[in-house]
Amino acid sequence: MTGAGLPTGGDIPVSITACPNGPLLVRGSFEILTPAGEVIPPRRKTVALCRCGISALKPFCDGSHKAINFRTEPEPPASQPRLPS
Ligand code: FES
Repeated sequence: MTGAGLPTGGDIPVSITACPNGPLLVRGSFEILTPAGEVIPPRRKTVALCRCGISALKPFCDGSHKAINFRTEPEPPASQPRLPS
């Protein structure tokens, strides 16, 4: 983590959780950058990134997905192969 305003404490593995019908929750040691490479202060150790496209605080979720009844695709059945990560 470099100068993004988060508490230091070493590298914490990053995890990203896709919330059903909502944002992506990102936890761990990470930086969010603009296309020009400038750090966007994450404000918190865990951030919610918008994936519905209507947040007024992009790239962060502002809860607007609820107002538009944003729906994500259901999880594939366990029998289907997963994409490589
Ligand atoms: S996912 Fe929450 S406002 Fe877009």
